[in-house]
Amino acid sequence: MSQASEASLSHAVGLVPTMGALHAGHLSLCQRARQENATVIVSIFVNPLQFGPTEDYQRYPRTLDQDRQLCEQVGVDAIFAPTAEEMGVGNRKAGGAGGAEDNFTLSLTQVVPPLNMTSVLCGSGRPGHFQGVATIMTKLLKVVQPDRAYFGQKDGQQLAIIKRLVQDLNFSMEVVGCPTVREASGLALSSRNQYLTPEQKEQAAVLYRGLQRAEQVFQAGERLARALVEVVRSELAIASVALEYVELVDPTTLLPLSRIEDEGMLTIAARIGSARLIDNIILRSRQPIVAIDGPAGAGKSTVARQVAAILGLLYLDTGAMYRALTWLVLHLGVPLEDECAIAEIVSNCQIELAPSDNLEEPVRVWINGQEVTQDIRSKDVTSNVSLIAAQPTVRSSLVQQQQRWGKRGGLVAEGRDIGTHVFPDADLKIFLTASVNERARRRQQDFQHQGQADISLEQLEQDIIERDWKDSNRNVAPLQKAADAIEIQTDGLSIAQVTAEIINCYNEHLPKR
Ligand code: PAJ
Repeated sequence: MSQASEASLSHAVGLVPTMGALHAGHLSLCQRARQENATVIVSIFVNPLQFGPTEDYQRYPRTLDQDRQLCEQVGVDAIFAPTAEEMGVGNRKAGGAGGAEDNFTLSLTQVVPPLNMTSVLCGSGRPGHFQGVATIMTKLLKVVQPDRAYFGQKDGQQLAIIKRLVQDLNFSMEVVGCPTVREASGLALSSRNQYLTPEQKEQAAVLYRGLQRAEQVFQAGERLARALVEVVRSELAIASVALEYVELVDPTTLLPLSRIEDEGMLTIAARIGSARLIDNIILRSRQPIVAIDGPAGAGKSTVARQVAAILGLLYLDTGAMYRALTWLVLHLGVPLEDECAIAEIVSNCQIELAPSDNLEEPVRVWINGQEVTQDIRSKDVTSNVSLIAAQPTVRSSLVQQQQRWGKRGGLVAEGRDIGTHVFPDADLKIFLTASVNERARRRQQDFQHQGQADISLEQLEQDIIERDWKDSNRNVAPLQKAADAIEIQTDGLSIAQVTAEIINCYNEHLPKR
Protein backbone atom coordinates (compact mmCIF):
# COMPACT_ATOMS: atom_id res chain seq x y z
CA MET A 1 0.00 0.00 0.00
CA SER A 2 1.29 3.47 -0.84
CA GLN A 3 2.23 5.89 1.89
CA ALA A 4 -0.64 8.20 0.98
CA SER A 5 -3.39 5.60 1.15
CA GLU A 6 -1.94 4.18 4.33
CA ALA A 7 -2.16 7.54 6.02
CA SER A 8 -5.65 8.25 4.70
CA LEU A 9 -7.15 5.33 6.63
CA SER A 10 -7.33 7.45 9.81
CA HIS A 11 -9.99 5.94 12.13
CA ALA A 12 -12.73 5.20 9.65
CA VAL A 13 -14.98 2.15 9.96
CA GLY A 14 -16.27 0.46 6.79
CA LEU A 15 -19.28 -1.87 6.88
CA VAL A 16 -20.09 -4.50 4.26
CA PRO A 17 -23.66 -5.72 4.90
CA THR A 18 -24.36 -9.22 3.54
CA MET A 19 -26.58 -12.24 3.99
CA GLY A 20 -23.56 -14.57 3.87
CA ALA A 21 -22.78 -17.40 1.42
CA LEU A 22 -19.96 -15.09 0.43
CA HIS A 23 -18.52 -15.09 -3.08
CA ALA A 24 -16.06 -12.94 -5.03
CA GLY A 25 -18.72 -10.21 -5.44
CA HIS A 26 -19.02 -9.78 -1.67
CA LEU A 27 -15.25 -10.02 -1.31
CA SER A 28 -14.71 -7.18 -3.80
CA LEU A 29 -16.74 -4.96 -1.47
CA CYS A 30 -14.58 -6.08 1.47
CA GLN A 31 -11.40 -5.33 -0.50
CA ARG A 32 -12.64 -1.86 -1.39
CA ALA A 33 -13.58 -1.26 2.26
CA ARG A 34 -10.14 -2.53 3.29
CA GLN A 35 -8.46 0.10 1.11
CA GLU A 36 -10.52 2.96 2.47
CA ASN A 37 -10.94 2.26 6.21
CA ALA A 38 -8.95 1.46 9.32
CA THR A 39 -11.51 -1.13 10.43
CA VAL A 40 -13.63 -3.35 8.19
CA ILE A 41 -16.73 -5.07 9.54
CA VAL A 42 -18.80 -7.57 7.57
CA SER A 43 -22.32 -8.23 8.76
CA ILE A 44 -23.84 -11.60 7.96
CA PHE A 45 -27.55 -11.82 8.60
CA VAL A 46 -30.23 -13.59 6.59
CA ASN A 47 -32.92 -11.00 7.17
CA PRO A 48 -36.37 -12.57 7.50
CA LEU A 49 -38.06 -9.18 6.96
CA GLN A 50 -37.03 -9.04 3.31
CA PHE A 51 -38.28 -12.49 2.27
CA GLY A 52 -41.84 -12.99 1.03
CA PRO A 53 -43.98 -15.86 2.37
CA THR A 54 -43.27 -18.03 -0.68
CA GLU A 55 -39.60 -17.05 -1.02
CA ASP A 56 -36.41 -18.95 -0.18
CA TYR A 57 -35.77 -17.80 3.41
CA GLN A 58 -35.51 -21.38 4.75
CA ARG A 59 -33.27 -22.75 2.06
CA TYR A 60 -31.12 -19.60 1.61
CA PRO A 61 -27.49 -20.90 1.83
CA ARG A 62 -25.89 -20.49 5.28
CA THR A 63 -22.14 -21.15 5.26
CA LEU A 64 -20.77 -19.26 8.25
CA ASP A 65 -17.56 -21.29 8.70
CA GLN A 66 -16.55 -20.85 5.10
CA ASP A 67 -17.57 -17.17 5.19
CA ARG A 68 -15.35 -16.65 8.21
CA GLN A 69 -12.34 -18.08 6.37
CA LEU A 70 -12.96 -15.93 3.31
CA CYS A 71 -13.30 -12.80 5.46
CA GLU A 72 -10.00 -13.62 7.12
CA GLN A 73 -8.30 -14.02 3.73
CA VAL A 74 -9.30 -10.51 2.61
CA GLY A 75 -8.34 -8.87 5.90
CA VAL A 76 -11.76 -8.23 7.45
CA ASP A 77 -11.37 -7.19 11.11
CA ALA A 78 -14.68 -8.38 12.53
CA ILE A 79 -17.79 -10.27 11.50
CA PHE A 80 -21.11 -9.22 12.98
CA ALA A 81 -23.40 -12.23 12.71
CA PRO A 82 -26.32 -11.63 15.06
CA THR A 83 -29.25 -13.97 15.59
CA ALA A 84 -32.72 -12.87 14.52
CA GLU A 85 -33.58 -12.37 18.19
CA GLU A 86 -30.55 -10.15 18.70
CA MET A 87 -31.64 -8.04 15.73
CA GLY A 88 -35.09 -7.72 17.25
CA VAL A 89 -36.81 -9.58 14.42
CA GLY A 90 -36.76 -13.02 16.00
CA ASN A 91 -40.19 -14.08 17.09
CA ARG A 92 -41.84 -13.70 13.75
CA LYS A 93 -42.56 -16.49 11.33
CA ALA A 94 -39.57 -16.77 9.03
CA GLY A 95 -40.30 -15.81 5.48
CA GLY A 96 -43.50 -14.01 6.29
CA ALA A 97 -42.34 -10.46 5.87
CA GLY A 98 -43.41 -9.79 2.34
CA GLY A 99 -46.61 -7.95 2.93
CA ALA A 100 -48.19 -10.70 5.01
CA GLU A 101 -49.26 -8.67 7.98
CA ASP A 102 -48.66 -11.18 10.71
CA ASN A 103 -48.87 -10.05 14.32
CA PHE A 104 -45.15 -9.58 14.60
CA THR A 105 -44.81 -7.34 11.55
CA LEU A 106 -47.73 -5.27 12.79
CA SER A 107 -45.98 -4.66 16.12
CA LEU A 108 -42.60 -3.71 14.61
CA THR A 109 -41.46 -0.21 13.68
CA GLN A 110 -40.47 -0.40 10.03
CA VAL A 111 -38.72 1.98 7.67
CA VAL A 112 -40.76 2.77 4.56
CA PRO A 113 -38.73 4.06 1.61
CA PRO A 114 -40.52 6.16 -1.06
CA LEU A 115 -43.25 4.10 -2.70
CA ASN A 116 -42.19 5.19 -6.17
CA MET A 117 -38.83 3.51 -5.56
CA THR A 118 -40.12 0.33 -3.91
CA SER A 119 -43.17 -0.44 -6.05
CA VAL A 120 -41.25 -0.63 -9.34
CA LEU A 121 -38.88 -3.22 -10.88
CA CYS A 122 -38.24 -6.00 -8.31
CA GLY A 123 -40.57 -4.27 -5.84
CA SER A 124 -43.71 -4.97 -7.86
CA GLY A 125 -43.27 -8.74 -7.58
CA ARG A 126 -41.83 -8.65 -4.05
CA PRO A 127 -44.17 -6.53 -1.89
CA GLY A 128 -42.57 -5.58 1.41
CA HIS A 129 -39.08 -6.62 0.28
CA PHE A 130 -37.45 -3.19 0.20
CA GLN A 131 -39.21 -2.15 3.38
CA GLY A 132 -37.58 -5.20 4.98
CA VAL A 133 -34.17 -4.23 3.52
CA ALA A 134 -34.58 -0.60 4.64
CA THR A 135 -35.61 -1.63 8.16
CA ILE A 136 -32.72 -4.03 8.68
CA MET A 137 -30.23 -1.62 7.11
CA THR A 138 -31.37 1.16 9.46
CA LYS A 139 -30.85 -1.18 12.40
CA LEU A 140 -27.42 -2.32 11.14
CA LEU A 141 -26.25 1.24 10.51
CA LYS A 142 -27.44 2.28 13.97
CA VAL A 143 -25.65 -0.62 15.65
CA VAL A 144 -22.36 -0.53 13.72
CA GLN A 145 -22.22 3.25 13.05
CA PRO A 146 -19.83 2.99 10.11
CA ASP A 147 -18.29 5.92 8.25
CA ARG A 148 -18.89 4.10 4.97
CA ALA A 149 -21.07 1.20 3.90
CA TYR A 150 -20.43 -0.76 0.71
CA PHE A 151 -23.05 -2.12 -1.69
CA GLY A 152 -22.95 -3.79 -5.09
CA GLN A 153 -24.23 -2.18 -8.28
CA LYS A 154 -25.61 -5.63 -9.10
CA ASP A 155 -28.57 -4.81 -6.86
CA GLY A 156 -29.04 -1.41 -8.47
CA GLN A 157 -32.53 -0.79 -7.04
CA GLN A 158 -31.37 -1.69 -3.53
CA LEU A 159 -28.35 0.64 -3.90
CA ALA A 160 -30.56 3.57 -5.01
CA ILE A 161 -33.02 2.98 -2.14
CA ILE A 162 -30.27 2.75 0.49
CA LYS A 163 -28.60 5.92 -0.81
CA ARG A 164 -31.96 7.67 -0.49
CA LEU A 165 -32.54 6.23 2.99
CA VAL A 166 -29.17 7.46 4.24
CA GLN A 167 -29.89 10.89 2.80
CA ASP A 168 -33.49 11.16 4.04
CA LEU A 169 -32.78 9.85 7.55
CA ASN A 170 -29.66 12.05 7.95
CA PHE A 171 -27.15 9.29 8.57
CA SER A 172 -23.75 10.98 8.55
CA MET A 173 -21.99 8.33 6.52
CA GLU A 174 -21.23 7.55 2.91
CA VAL A 175 -22.85 4.86 0.77
CA VAL A 176 -20.29 3.46 -1.66
CA GLY A 177 -21.53 1.66 -4.78
CA CYS A 178 -19.14 -0.97 -6.22
CA PRO A 179 -19.00 -2.57 -9.68
CA THR A 180 -20.63 -5.93 -10.40
CA VAL A 181 -18.28 -8.92 -10.31
CA ARG A 182 -19.00 -11.51 -13.00
CA GLU A 183 -18.03 -15.00 -14.03
CA ALA A 184 -16.04 -15.40 -17.24
CA SER A 185 -19.37 -16.04 -19.04
CA GLY A 186 -20.62 -12.61 -17.91
CA LEU A 187 -23.09 -14.07 -15.36
CA ALA A 188 -23.19 -11.78 -12.31
CA LEU A 189 -22.06 -13.65 -9.19
CA SER A 190 -24.90 -14.26 -6.74
CA SER A 191 -25.45 -16.46 -3.70
CA ARG A 192 -28.55 -17.70 -5.53
CA ASN A 193 -26.46 -19.04 -8.44
CA GLN A 194 -26.02 -22.08 -6.18
CA TYR A 195 -29.59 -23.05 -7.10
CA LEU A 196 -28.57 -23.44 -10.77
CA THR A 197 -27.38 -26.62 -12.49
CA PRO A 198 -24.24 -26.20 -14.62
CA GLU A 199 -26.45 -26.17 -17.70
CA GLN A 200 -28.75 -23.50 -16.27
CA LYS A 201 -25.70 -21.45 -15.32
CA GLU A 202 -24.65 -21.46 -18.95
CA GLN A 203 -28.13 -20.38 -20.01
CA ALA A 204 -28.14 -17.64 -17.37
CA ALA A 205 -25.26 -15.85 -19.10
CA VAL A 206 -27.84 -14.69 -21.67
CA LEU A 207 -28.97 -11.95 -19.24
CA TYR A 208 -25.66 -10.12 -19.46
CA ARG A 209 -25.31 -10.89 -23.18
CA GLY A 210 -28.64 -9.11 -23.72
CA LEU A 211 -27.49 -6.10 -21.71
CA GLN A 212 -24.20 -6.00 -23.62
CA ARG A 213 -25.97 -6.12 -26.98
CA ALA A 214 -28.06 -3.13 -25.84
CA GLU A 215 -24.88 -1.34 -24.77
CA GLN A 216 -23.39 -1.82 -28.25
CA VAL A 217 -26.53 -0.35 -29.82
CA PHE A 218 -26.38 2.50 -27.30
CA GLN A 219 -22.71 3.19 -28.14
CA ALA A 220 -23.74 3.37 -31.78
CA GLY A 221 -26.11 6.22 -30.91
CA GLU A 222 -29.46 4.70 -29.91
CA ARG A 223 -31.02 6.62 -27.00
CA LEU A 224 -34.67 5.46 -26.97
CA ALA A 225 -35.74 3.19 -24.13
CA ARG A 226 -38.15 1.24 -26.33
CA ALA A 227 -35.41 0.31 -28.80
CA LEU A 228 -32.84 -0.58 -26.12
CA VAL A 229 -35.32 -2.76 -24.22
CA GLU A 230 -36.29 -4.48 -27.46
CA VAL A 231 -32.65 -5.44 -28.12
CA VAL A 232 -32.49 -7.22 -24.74
CA ARG A 233 -35.86 -8.89 -25.24
CA SER A 234 -34.92 -10.28 -28.65
CA GLU A 235 -31.63 -11.65 -27.32
CA LEU A 236 -33.53 -13.40 -24.51
CA ALA A 237 -36.34 -14.62 -26.74
CA ILE A 238 -34.31 -17.57 -27.98
CA ALA A 239 -33.21 -18.65 -24.48
CA SER A 240 -35.23 -20.75 -22.06
CA VAL A 241 -35.51 -18.13 -19.36
CA ALA A 242 -38.72 -16.66 -17.98
CA LEU A 243 -38.28 -12.92 -18.29
CA GLU A 244 -39.87 -10.86 -15.51
CA TYR A 245 -38.96 -7.39 -16.72
CA VAL A 246 -36.47 -5.35 -18.75
CA GLU A 247 -36.65 -1.63 -18.03
CA LEU A 248 -34.70 1.57 -18.45
CA VAL A 249 -34.80 3.81 -15.36
CA ASP A 250 -32.94 6.71 -13.82
CA PRO A 251 -30.28 5.07 -11.58
CA THR A 252 -30.86 7.56 -8.74
CA THR A 253 -34.64 8.03 -8.67
CA LEU A 254 -35.61 4.74 -10.40
CA LEU A 255 -38.19 6.69 -12.44
CA PRO A 256 -38.78 5.18 -15.89
CA LEU A 257 -36.94 6.87 -18.75
CA SER A 258 -38.26 7.08 -22.29
CA ARG A 259 -34.81 8.11 -23.57
CA ILE A 260 -31.33 8.59 -22.15
CA GLU A 261 -30.25 12.20 -21.75
CA ASP A 262 -27.36 11.78 -19.26
CA GLU A 263 -27.50 8.24 -17.93
CA GLY A 264 -29.86 5.32 -17.53
CA MET A 265 -29.89 1.97 -15.76
CA LEU A 266 -30.97 -0.85 -18.02
CA THR A 267 -32.16 -3.50 -15.64
CA ILE A 268 -33.45 -7.03 -15.95
CA ALA A 269 -34.96 -9.83 -13.85
CA ALA A 270 -35.63 -13.39 -15.02
CA ARG A 271 -36.29 -16.83 -13.64
CA ILE A 272 -34.20 -19.82 -14.57
CA GLY A 273 -35.30 -23.03 -12.94
CA SER A 274 -36.02 -22.16 -9.32
CA ALA A 275 -33.67 -19.17 -9.21
CA ARG A 276 -34.65 -15.56 -9.72
CA LEU A 277 -31.72 -13.61 -11.17
CA ILE A 278 -31.22 -9.89 -11.63
CA ASP A 279 -28.63 -7.79 -13.45
CA ASN A 280 -28.19 -4.27 -14.85
CA ILE A 281 -25.81 -1.96 -16.64
CA ILE A 282 -25.44 1.79 -16.51
CA LEU A 283 -25.52 3.52 -19.89
CA ARG A 284 -23.92 6.96 -19.91
CA SER A 285 -24.17 9.39 -22.78
CA ARG A 286 -22.06 12.07 -21.18
CA GLN A 287 -18.59 12.95 -22.35
CA PRO A 288 -15.77 11.27 -20.41
CA ILE A 289 -14.50 12.43 -17.02
CA VAL A 290 -10.86 12.05 -16.01
CA ALA A 291 -10.15 12.30 -12.26
CA ILE A 292 -6.60 12.96 -11.09
CA ASP A 293 -5.90 12.75 -7.36
CA GLY A 294 -2.73 12.69 -5.34
CA PRO A 295 -0.69 14.36 -2.64
CA ALA A 296 0.44 17.98 -2.83
CA GLY A 297 3.43 18.56 -5.04
CA ALA A 298 2.89 15.53 -7.30
CA GLY A 299 2.36 17.84 -10.29
CA LYS A 300 -1.40 17.31 -10.60
CA SER A 301 -2.53 20.72 -11.83
CA THR A 302 0.09 21.12 -14.56
CA VAL A 303 -0.51 17.58 -15.77
CA ALA A 304 -4.32 17.92 -15.60
CA ARG A 305 -4.17 21.12 -17.67
CA GLN A 306 -2.08 19.41 -20.35
CA VAL A 307 -4.16 16.24 -20.42
CA ALA A 308 -7.32 18.35 -20.86
CA ALA A 309 -5.73 20.33 -23.70
CA ILE A 310 -4.61 17.19 -25.56
CA LEU A 311 -7.96 15.42 -25.16
CA GLY A 312 -10.03 18.53 -25.95
CA LEU A 313 -11.71 18.40 -22.52
CA LEU A 314 -12.30 21.20 -20.03
CA TYR A 315 -9.81 21.47 -17.19
CA LEU A 316 -12.17 21.85 -14.24
CA ASP A 317 -10.04 24.26 -12.27
CA THR A 318 -11.62 23.83 -8.84
CA GLY A 319 -9.01 26.18 -7.35
CA ALA A 320 -10.30 28.90 -9.67
CA MET A 321 -13.83 28.30 -8.37
CA TYR A 322 -12.73 28.87 -4.77
CA ARG A 323 -10.81 31.95 -5.90
CA ALA A 324 -13.83 33.33 -7.75
CA LEU A 325 -15.98 32.95 -4.64
CA THR A 326 -13.28 34.59 -2.49
CA TRP A 327 -13.17 37.49 -4.95
CA LEU A 328 -16.95 37.88 -4.68
CA VAL A 329 -16.92 37.79 -0.87
CA LEU A 330 -14.18 40.45 -0.78
CA HIS A 331 -15.94 42.49 -3.46
CA LEU A 332 -19.19 42.47 -1.45
CA GLY A 333 -17.30 43.45 1.69
CA VAL A 334 -18.59 40.45 3.66
CA PRO A 335 -16.34 39.53 6.63
CA LEU A 336 -14.43 36.31 5.90
CA GLU A 337 -15.44 34.75 9.20
CA ASP A 338 -19.19 35.31 8.59
CA GLU A 339 -19.84 31.70 7.55
CA CYS A 340 -23.62 32.17 7.39
CA ALA A 341 -23.42 35.09 4.98
CA ILE A 342 -20.84 33.25 2.87
CA ALA A 343 -23.02 30.12 2.81
CA GLU A 344 -25.85 32.29 1.45
CA ILE A 345 -23.57 33.80 -1.21
CA VAL A 346 -22.18 30.46 -2.37
CA SER A 347 -25.59 28.84 -2.62
CA ASN A 348 -26.81 31.65 -4.88
CA CYS A 349 -23.74 32.19 -7.05
CA GLN A 350 -23.22 31.01 -10.61
CA ILE A 351 -19.66 30.19 -11.62
CA GLU A 352 -18.73 29.43 -15.21
CA LEU A 353 -15.43 28.16 -16.60
CA ALA A 354 -14.22 27.97 -20.18
CA PRO A 355 -10.83 27.11 -21.68
CA SER A 356 -8.88 30.19 -22.78
CA ASP A 357 -7.95 30.45 -26.46
CA ASN A 358 -4.32 29.92 -25.57
CA LEU A 359 -4.18 26.53 -23.85
CA GLU A 360 -1.10 27.57 -21.88
CA GLU A 361 -3.13 30.22 -20.08
CA PRO A 362 -5.44 29.63 -17.09
CA VAL A 363 -9.12 28.87 -17.71
CA ARG A 364 -11.46 31.85 -18.05
CA VAL A 365 -13.75 32.36 -15.07
CA TRP A 366 -17.06 34.20 -14.60
CA ILE A 367 -19.02 34.65 -11.40
CA ASN A 368 -22.60 35.84 -11.60
CA GLY A 369 -21.98 36.83 -15.21
CA GLN A 370 -18.88 38.96 -14.57
CA GLU A 371 -15.53 37.81 -15.94
CA VAL A 372 -12.96 37.63 -13.13
CA THR A 373 -10.16 35.64 -14.83
CA GLN A 374 -7.53 38.25 -13.94
CA ASP A 375 -9.03 39.50 -10.66
CA ILE A 376 -8.93 36.09 -8.98
CA ARG A 377 -5.12 36.06 -9.24
CA SER A 378 -4.79 39.18 -7.05
CA LYS A 379 -2.74 39.14 -3.84
CA ASP A 380 -5.86 39.76 -1.78
CA VAL A 381 -7.62 36.71 -3.17
CA THR A 382 -4.50 34.56 -2.88
CA SER A 383 -4.03 35.33 0.77
CA ASN A 384 -7.68 34.71 1.71
CA VAL A 385 -8.75 31.79 -0.44
CA SER A 386 -7.73 29.07 2.03
CA LEU A 387 -9.93 30.63 4.75
CA ILE A 388 -12.96 30.44 2.48
CA ALA A 389 -12.14 26.97 1.13
CA ALA A 390 -11.97 25.57 4.68
CA GLN A 391 -15.66 26.32 5.31
CA PRO A 392 -17.65 23.05 4.95
CA THR A 393 -20.74 24.71 3.39
CA VAL A 394 -18.56 26.38 0.75
CA ARG A 395 -17.05 23.07 -0.16
CA SER A 396 -20.30 21.13 -0.31
CA SER A 397 -21.94 23.82 -2.47
CA LEU A 398 -19.05 23.96 -4.89
CA VAL A 399 -18.84 20.16 -5.07
CA GLN A 400 -22.53 20.14 -6.01
CA GLN A 401 -21.81 22.65 -8.80
CA GLN A 402 -18.93 20.50 -10.00
CA GLN A 403 -21.19 17.44 -10.00
CA ARG A 404 -23.80 19.31 -12.04
CA TRP A 405 -21.12 19.94 -14.66
CA GLY A 406 -20.16 16.29 -14.33
CA LYS A 407 -23.61 15.36 -15.70
CA ARG A 408 -22.44 16.71 -19.05
CA GLY A 409 -18.93 15.36 -18.57
CA GLY A 410 -16.10 16.32 -20.90
CA LEU A 411 -13.71 17.35 -18.16
CA VAL A 412 -10.49 16.67 -16.32
CA ALA A 413 -10.49 17.44 -12.59
CA GLU A 414 -7.72 17.17 -10.03
CA GLY A 415 -7.66 17.21 -6.24
CA ARG A 416 -7.60 14.89 -3.26
CA ASP A 417 -10.94 13.10 -3.50
CA ILE A 418 -12.15 13.64 -7.06
CA GLY A 419 -12.20 9.93 -7.95
CA THR A 420 -13.62 8.79 -4.60
CA HIS A 421 -16.09 11.53 -3.73
CA VAL A 422 -16.70 14.20 -6.36
CA PHE A 423 -16.84 11.94 -9.46
CA PRO A 424 -16.89 8.34 -8.16
CA ASP A 425 -18.06 7.18 -11.62
CA ALA A 426 -15.27 8.96 -13.53
CA ASP A 427 -14.25 7.04 -16.66
CA LEU A 428 -10.56 7.19 -15.82
CA LYS A 429 -9.07 7.66 -12.36
CA ILE A 430 -5.40 8.43 -11.90
CA PHE A 431 -3.53 8.66 -8.61
CA LEU A 432 -0.31 10.65 -9.08
CA THR A 433 2.35 10.17 -6.46
CA ALA A 434 6.01 10.96 -6.01
CA SER A 435 8.33 10.21 -3.14
CA VAL A 436 8.72 12.83 -0.42
CA ASN A 437 12.31 13.35 -1.52
CA GLU A 438 11.34 13.94 -5.15
CA ARG A 439 8.58 16.38 -4.23
CA ALA A 440 10.95 18.27 -1.92
CA ARG A 441 13.48 18.51 -4.75
CA ARG A 442 10.85 19.81 -7.17
CA ARG A 443 9.72 22.39 -4.64
CA GLN A 444 13.31 23.48 -4.01
CA GLN A 445 13.76 24.02 -7.74
CA ASP A 446 10.59 26.15 -7.84
CA PHE A 447 11.92 28.26 -4.97
CA GLN A 448 15.29 28.60 -6.70
CA HIS A 449 13.53 29.85 -9.85
CA GLN A 450 11.79 32.43 -7.68
CA GLY A 451 15.19 33.52 -6.32
CA GLN A 452 14.82 31.84 -2.91
CA ALA A 453 17.78 29.48 -2.78
CA ASP A 454 18.18 29.20 0.98
CA ILE A 455 15.49 26.67 1.94
CA SER A 456 17.01 23.29 2.85
CA LEU A 457 15.87 19.99 1.37
CA GLU A 458 15.39 18.57 4.89
CA GLN A 459 13.06 21.42 5.82
CA LEU A 460 11.02 20.94 2.65
CA GLU A 461 10.80 17.18 3.25
CA GLN A 462 9.55 17.78 6.76
CA ASP A 463 6.93 20.25 5.46
CA ILE A 464 5.73 17.72 2.89
CA ILE A 465 5.43 14.90 5.44
CA GLU A 466 3.35 17.16 7.67
CA ARG A 467 1.21 18.34 4.75
CA ASP A 468 0.60 14.71 3.65
CA TRP A 469 -0.52 13.78 7.12
CA LYS A 470 -2.87 16.76 7.34
CA ASP A 471 -4.31 16.13 3.86
CA SER A 472 -4.94 12.48 4.62
CA ASN A 473 -6.55 13.07 7.98
CA ARG A 474 -8.53 16.26 7.48
CA ASN A 475 -12.28 16.00 8.10
CA VAL A 476 -13.26 17.80 4.91
CA ALA A 477 -12.16 16.01 1.72
CA PRO A 478 -9.28 13.86 2.93
CA LEU A 479 -6.81 12.59 0.35
CA GLN A 480 -7.96 9.18 -0.88
CA LYS A 481 -6.91 6.83 -3.60
CA ALA A 482 -9.91 5.25 -5.32
CA ALA A 483 -9.80 1.46 -5.41
CA ASP A 484 -10.09 1.55 -9.20
CA ALA A 485 -7.50 4.31 -9.71
CA ILE A 486 -4.33 3.72 -11.70
CA GLU A 487 -1.33 4.79 -9.65
CA ILE A 488 1.47 6.58 -11.47
CA GLN A 489 4.73 7.00 -9.62
CA THR A 490 6.23 10.16 -11.09
CA ASP A 491 9.75 10.04 -9.60
CA GLY A 492 12.21 10.74 -12.39
CA LEU A 493 9.46 11.46 -14.95
CA SER A 494 9.02 14.80 -16.70
CA ILE A 495 5.61 16.52 -16.93
CA ALA A 496 5.47 15.51 -20.59
CA GLN A 497 6.18 11.85 -19.74
CA VAL A 498 3.48 11.75 -17.05
CA THR A 499 1.00 13.40 -19.42
CA ALA A 500 1.83 10.87 -22.13
CA GLU A 501 1.29 8.00 -19.72
CA ILE A 502 -2.14 9.31 -18.75
CA ILE A 503 -3.09 9.74 -22.42
CA ASN A 504 -2.04 6.10 -22.98
CA CYS A 505 -4.23 4.98 -20.09
CA TYR A 506 -7.09 7.00 -21.53
CA ASN A 507 -6.74 5.43 -24.96
CA GLU A 508 -6.61 1.96 -23.44
CA HIS A 509 -9.65 2.52 -21.24
CA LEU A 510 -11.87 4.54 -23.52
CA PRO A 511 -11.01 3.19 -26.96
CA LYS A 512 -14.49 3.36 -28.40
CA ARG A 513 -15.34 7.00 -27.72
P1 PAJ B 1 -26.47 -10.05 -0.30
O1 PAJ B 1 -27.34 -10.54 -1.39
O2 PAJ B 1 -25.69 -11.02 0.51
O3 PAJ B 1 -25.49 -9.01 -0.92
C1 PAJ B 1 -24.61 -8.27 -0.10
C2 PAJ B 1 -23.96 -7.20 -0.95
O4 PAJ B 1 -23.15 -7.81 -1.96
C3 PAJ B 1 -24.99 -6.32 -1.70
O5 PAJ B 1 -24.59 -4.96 -1.61
C4 PAJ B 1 -24.90 -6.83 -3.11
O6 PAJ B 1 -25.25 -5.86 -4.09
C5 PAJ B 1 -23.43 -7.22 -3.20
N1 PAJ B 1 -23.21 -8.16 -4.31
C6 PAJ B 1 -23.86 -9.32 -4.54
N2 PAJ B 1 -23.42 -9.88 -5.69
C7 PAJ B 1 -22.48 -9.06 -6.20
C8 PAJ B 1 -21.65 -9.08 -7.37
N3 PAJ B 1 -21.72 -10.06 -8.26
N4 PAJ B 1 -20.79 -8.06 -7.56
C9 PAJ B 1 -20.72 -7.03 -6.67
N5 PAJ B 1 -21.48 -6.96 -5.56
C10 PAJ B 1 -22.34 -7.96 -5.31
O7 PAJ B 1 -28.03 -7.52 -0.60
C11 PAJ B 1 -28.15 -8.13 0.44
O8 PAJ B 1 -27.36 -9.21 0.76
C12 PAJ B 1 -29.16 -7.73 1.52
O9 PAJ B 1 -30.29 -7.21 0.90
C13 PAJ B 1 -28.58 -6.74 2.55
C14 PAJ B 1 -28.15 -5.43 1.91
C15 PAJ B 1 -27.42 -7.36 3.32
C16 PAJ B 1 -29.69 -6.39 3.59
O10 PAJ B 1 -30.17 -7.52 4.21
